[in-house]
Amino acid sequence: MHIVTLAGSPKAFSKSSSLIGYLSQRLAADAIQIQHFSVQQLHLPALLTGDFQHPSVVALQAAVAQADGLIIATPVYKASFSGVLKTILDVLPQDALAHKTVLPVASGGSLAHLLALDYALKPVLSALKAQEILSGVFATDSQIQTHAEQAVLDADLRERLDQAAAQLVHALRCRRSYVSHSHAEVAYSA
Ligand SMILES: Cc1cc2nc3c(=O)[nH]c(=O)nc-3n(C[C@H](O)[C@H](O)[C@H](O)COP(=O)(O)O)c2cc1C
Repeated sequence: MHIVTLAGSPKAFSKSSSLIGYLSQRLAADAIQIQHFSVQQLHLPALLTGDFQHPSVVALQAAVAQADGLIIATPVYKASFSGVLKTILDVLPQDALAHKTVLPVASGGSLAHLLALDYALKPVLSALKAQEILSGVFATDSQIQTHAEQAVLDADLRERLDQAAAQLVHALRCRRSYVSHSHAEVAYSA
């Protein structure tokens, strides 16, 4: 199984991206292949001008098309997800998330915008036709300590991320078994 991660912070070393880092380690132990994308890897003028043909955008579109699922991370900015993440989602085809499971995660300065994933990001993921959107994980800055570009996550956050990783693996396995079953039925009826 193969997932794509999208790190939606404009910062290269970022708290929300550290959630992806932790989840990736958990998922690698389940033999899930992971392909990472971040704002820094993409060509900002291409994002800002909606250049669907730019090679970095085409590479992202292809990776998303081939993925079984995605993890999308964002900081909370002005009570919503980051603007630069929106520019990334905007260059995906309108059904880019069809047949895919998505795990959204966010970090914010406080609990004030705990629901930003629910009221801001999830409707956009639905518009991109995500088949299943998991409940997601919200972390406050106080749960992510940073020292010398290393992030240390507190125990409560690690536990919630472990649960989210397990849910994602379960959803991906169910999806894989459904797809294999459907293919077998087609072969049988052919
Ligand atoms: C421009 C800006 C706007 C922010 N707006 C909010 C906000 O509305 N609510 C909130 O809880 N935190 C807000 N924060 C704090 C960030 O969400 C928080 O520090 C987050 O963990 C940063 O993640 P990152 O390191 O991945 O960029 C804001 C930070 C910045 C720089």
